[in-house]
Amino acid sequence: MVVRKEIKSYVIRTGKLTKNQNNALQDHSEKYCISYKSEHIAEVFPKKQDIVCDIGFGMATNLIDQAVSNDDFNYLGLEVYPPGVGSALAGIAKNACENIKIIQHDAVEVLNNMVPDNYFVKVQLLYPDPWPKKRHHKRRIISPSFLNSIARVLKSGGVFQVITDWDPYADYIKDLFVGDKRFVSVEEHAFTEDSMSWPNPTETAYAKKGINKGHAISNLIYRVC
Ligand SMILES: C[S@@+](CC[C@H](N)C(=O)[O-])C[C@H]1O[C@@H](n2cnc3c(N)ncnc32)[C@H](O)[C@@H]1O
Repeated sequence: MVVRKEIKSYVIRTGKLTKNQNNALQDHSEKYCISYKSEHIAEVFPKKQDIVCDIGFGMATNLIDQAVSNDDFNYLGLEVYPPGVGSALAGIAKNACENIKIIQHDAVEVLNNMVPDNYFVKVQLLYPDPWPKKRHHKRRIISPSFLNSIARVLKSGGVFQVITDWDPYADYIKDLFVGDKRFVSVEEHAFTEDSMSWPNPTETAYAKKGINKGHAISNLIYRVC
């Protein structure tokens, strides 16, 4: 029997954990991490308020900054990279953030199997791996089936935001959304004016890297109808 390996949008890197990340994983996972299970999550936040999902939060700089300055929102962070999860937990503990939960698992599977319909007011994807080589495009996290998940998990009027410094990826994303009647594109200035309702990301290390390389930054925002 031939078993087809599922194509993932990531390669698990065994980055060395710092002492701080290791301690945070040991001390704070139980309180702030949710184990992956193929069943819908129940009420997981102490306070009932709108939920933002940060997919692939990396070293969690934006996740922590955003959650600290928007404590009237809950945050669900999804990441597979252990040092990133360790950094997130260290940041959560340092700032005593009661509005963040982490799932260390493939975001595609989490969205498909754990997240109920109409769950988030915002899903954000900051600098997703662009997989620039043509033979790797199939690894890109954004795909037609990913859009189906986003349309399902966002509440009516909720937004999906993706920021990338890789122009060909931005063009690919725009092409996917343009023909999809479930979403309308939101101009960046309109989004900023609306920023009372939608917490904005802060600049991450990937933003700085892109800018240093002279790349244009595309900030793409779509509202689900
Ligand atoms: C280029 S980094 C960007 C990190 C962060 N958003 C930032 O801007 O600094 C992409 C991150 O997405 C994570 N990632 C990729 N595919 C993922 C998936 N399917 N589920 C969870 N995390 C994923 C990777 O582990 C990596 O940390």
